[in-house]
Amino acid sequence: MTGGCGFIGSRFVERLATAGDSVVVLDKLTYAGNLANLDGVSHEFVRGDIADREAVQRAGEGCGACVNFAAETHVDRSILRAHEFIHTDVLGTYVLLEWAREADARLVQVSTDEVYGDVAAGESSSERDALRPSSPYSASKAGGDLQVLSHVRTFGVDALITRGSNTYGPHQYPEKLIPLFITNAFDGKELPVYGDGKQVRDWLHASDHCAAIEFVMRHGQGGEVYNVGGDCELENLTVVARILELCDADDGLVRHVDDRLGHDRRYSLDSGKLHSLGWAPERDFRSGLEETVAWYREHRAWWEPIKSGAYREYYEQQYASRLGT
Ligand code: NAD
Ligand code: TYD
Repeated sequence: MTGGCGFIGSRFVERLATAGDSVVVLDKLTYAGNLANLDGVSHEFVRGDIADREAVQRAGEGCGACVNFAAETHVDRSILRAHEFIHTDVLGTYVLLEWAREADARLVQVSTDEVYGDVAAGESSSERDALRPSSPYSASKAGGDLQVLSHVRTFGVDALITRGSNTYGPHQYPEKLIPLFITNAFDGKELPVYGDGKQVRDWLHASDHCAAIEFVMRHGQGGEVYNVGGDCELENLTVVARILELCDADDGLVRHVDDRLGHDRRYSLDSGKLHSLGWAPERDFRSGLEETVAWYREHRAWWEPIKSGAYREYYEQQYASRLGT
């Protein structure tokens, strides 16, 4: 499992380790990687970069499959600087493909609905749709996906792609909408809503996302792409209102700020293909968000050190002029 110390990867490692699988985690431990996410979870750890062939070979020794969670994942950071995104999400994916080819192993590429770009109201993206990424992040993920498909076609590599929607739950680094706003609300800090806040995202709980990836890893067909949606499309302002309610916070904390550059208005996935094979999301957003807020309330020791470290520099760069602070 690459990127197994991040938000979704760590939940996946826990899921497999709990089921008795033996798991090797390859992680570079970037700002988003956190060893504490695997506390109490049985695994073998290798620190390294997925774009480093030697590290990949060392970690991959004896593995029958690789699930690639490792990525630079935050759209706002990709707008500030895209270099690491291209390094990890494109070059890193290529190195893993070369490993899978030589080792005759399966590679599951964990991708995102963002590769399809904006989706008009009333429409949903199917796996056959063209990729029209809008941000440097989604363009780098699309580049990784295209490398996967080319290695399937040209070299017969046994690789598959999942494209998940916006994922939430415990252990998510507090830079994405939900954990950022929950932790800001607890501290009485402003919630910076980009533009009018009417952008639509489809929310998927991390446990449902992991169940889908495991299903595809075990039962998916090589060369196929599988959309993984949460069947829960909401405007950002609706999500923000629920967060305020669950955190007992004042709605005066909401601040409409300058919009994100190139901001996608709406994502929507048609997940019919995976549904027809037997997977469907199980968590409803109301209880999933309630449980997530409770986790952040009880785990200040997990997020407080993050928000007081190098993170502050990023926060200043991203929000200071928007908030006029
Ligand atoms: P994350 O940012 O929380 O974690 C990424 C992990 O990858 C970290 O542990 C980091 O240290 C590691 N990493 C980064 N660069 C690396 C490199 N070069 N070599 C080795 N390890 C490296 O990410 P996440 O939110 O858990 O996302 C996991 C995957 O799921 C990503 O591929 C992402 O594109 C995809 N995805 C995420 C979401 C979401 O909403 N979070 C939705 C759909 C798809
Ligand atoms: P995010 O969690 O960054 O995920 P993505 O951009 O990959 O979908 O953002 C989710 C939505 O929330 C997106 O429309 C951007 C918006 N957003 C804000 O309004 N303010 C913020 O500070 C952040 C981080 C996101």
